[in-house]
Amino acid sequence: MTSITVNDSLPSTDVEDEVVTSHGDFPFPNTARKASQLVAASSRTTLDPFDSVDWNRPIDDSAFHTSPELLSLYGTSVWDAMTEVERIEYSRHETAAIYGAGIWFENALMQVILRHLTTVDVTDPMHRYLLIEVADECRHSTMFGEYIRRAGTPSYPASLPLEPDDSAAARTLSYLLVLAVEELLDFVNRAAMRDERVHSTVREISRLHVLEEARHVAFAKSFLAETWPALSEEDKVVVRATAPALVAEVVKLNVNETVFDTLSIEDGYDIARSNPFHAATVVTGLSKLTGFLADVGIIDDDSAWIELGLLDAALPLD
Ligand SMILES: [Fe+2]
Ligand SMILES: [Fe+2]
Repeated sequence: MTSITVNDSLPSTDVEDEVVTSHGDFPFPNTARKASQLVAASSRTTLDPFDSVDWNRPIDDSAFHTSPELLSLYGTSVWDAMTEVERIEYSRHETAAIYGAGIWFENALMQVILRHLTTVDVTDPMHRYLLIEVADECRHSTMFGEYIRRAGTPSYPASLPLEPDDSAAARTLSYLLVLAVEELLDFVNRAAMRDERVHSTVREISRLHVLEEARHVAFAKSFLAETWPALSEEDKVVVRATAPALVAEVVKLNVNETVFDTLSIEDGYDIARSNPFHAATVVTGLSKLTGFLADVGIIDDDSAWIELGLLDAALPLD
């Protein structure tokens, strides 16, 4: 296992340059090729959070736990009225809640992948890669859980009913949601890992997650780009009509009302949800996703995305 510290440069996540041959006759040859590259990248660098993160340091309030500008109350009158000590304590609780949501997301994602795997031939490189992705998420969830167990906060579990649906439209929507969560978390993780105001343990967690999620993002993009054109027109209509509301649900899970109850911050949830700074964070955090979806053609009419605060009408799509 490779050990990391917050000062290391990230090991290469470049998965474009692997030379892979012989991909047989798989249903999605581009994604099969990408999966082979990602298997090779995973062999080069796979991290054990119980080796790579120093858990001996107390998860205390010696530093922020998320970059302050990305906290949901940042910039509000409530934030302005807090002392530095209160802001840091709040950052620890909100980070625990984001990790709690992360565990829910990863659980949902593993279920999506495991169901998908029942339809993938074992000789297809996707099969081996998707098993690696599940193993990655198992380690990530134990890592987020370890933070929560040590952070002195409630566990802030996220819950949302999960209804298994193996139709082609549902599978596309599932990978689209996977990508939404991964891009959103990636945005927060990248800020934290570089931010010297953030607790070293959180920076190490963030770094590990950024490194391994880069592969997951690459897979989801390849899969969506290749399978979208093959969907029926009927399924495309379903995906386009459903995606914005589902992404908005997922975004909502990142702010947990119980955090504000625990810290006795009156109306904190409503204030956070209507905070223009937070709204801008969401749009920026989703910009890689929305740019990709527009490129592929999944977003052809952006009005619902704008209405739900997932896209800024003033900012052109990539
Ligand atoms: Fe993960
Ligand atoms: Fe992931």
